Amino acid sequence: MKHFLNLIDFTADELSALLTEAARLKAAQARRIPATSLSGRVVGLVFEKPSLRTRVSFESGVAQLGGTALYLPGNEVGLGWRETLADFARTVSNFVDALVLRVYKHETLDALAAHGTIPIINGLSDWSHPCQGLADVMTIQELFGTVQGKTVAFVGDGNNVARSLAVGLGRLGGRLVLACPEGYGFDDKFREQYTARVGPDFPKEVRDPRAAVRTADVIYTDVWTSMGQEAEREERLRRFAGFQVNAKLLSAAPAHCKVLHCLPAHRGEEVTDDVMDGPACAAFQQAGNRLHAQKAVLEALLK
Ligand code: CP
Repeated sequence: MKHFLNLIDFTADELSALLTEAARLKAAQARRIPATSLSGRVVGLVFEKPSLRTRVSFESGVAQLGGTALYLPGNEVGLGWRETLADFARTVSNFVDALVLRVYKHETLDALAAHGTIPIINGLSDWSHPCQGLADVMTIQELFGTVQGKTVAFVGDGNNVARSLAVGLGRLGGRLVLACPEGYGFDDKFREQYTARVGPDFPKEVRDPRAAVRTADVIYTDVWTSMGQEAEREERLRRFAGFQVNAKLLSAAPAHCKVLHCLPAHRGEEVTDDVMDGPACAAFQQAGNRLHAQKAVLEALLK
């Protein structure tokens, strides 16, 4: 394992190994067993966009493993505009042992991985959110004992989070059904990549969220307007109006169905308070699993 840029780069066995280690780390942390696997290591965190979960879980995770996390605001390091990406990558490779980055453009990560000599971890790009996807499948495994055979109805935009989750599920024997308005589904680039590298069973896309959730083990939603799409907000609110995850939609799902959300939630838009605060919601367990999943990734990259 050299970098952690997309879940599609990992086999089912590799993802399963990460999940096993994440579960071990979670149990060890619960028992306050000290860890030293990142002792003497420094992990840089570069963020071009805001974050709560990704930044804090990485900073805490590095500290819990005995390493040091160094927060580097995107507007200070100036990726690609203060100096070239190649020069940044070559320079920072001398100072830190790995970099976590949240970037506008996925190509930034590819360039840093190509020019640097340290592991690059994708903390969210416009293309994918593999740290989130790994925590998502970890949570599904915890909730149901396995990902195999489980169906996730993703009610929302076919975005970076949906792509990573679709790949994680596809690799581990689950499946994603996407319920979205026309024009907001997965694009041809993702379809080609998925069918070439995961398999022919590309996620089904439906327009009726009630049909999508009828046999779902999990209903998953995300904000309708992601960071960087603010100019589309009014149009998106209008187009996604019938795709809210609320008590009525949840009542159309099987009784055992759980609700996940990568957070932050826009309560009253894509999800209602009663669902977020109700017994089916496992979004905060899911958020907590970001910590453990990412610690497993850090160990795999830096061992
Ligand atoms: N889900 C997620 O990545 O949260 P943050 O944007 O707060 O990091």
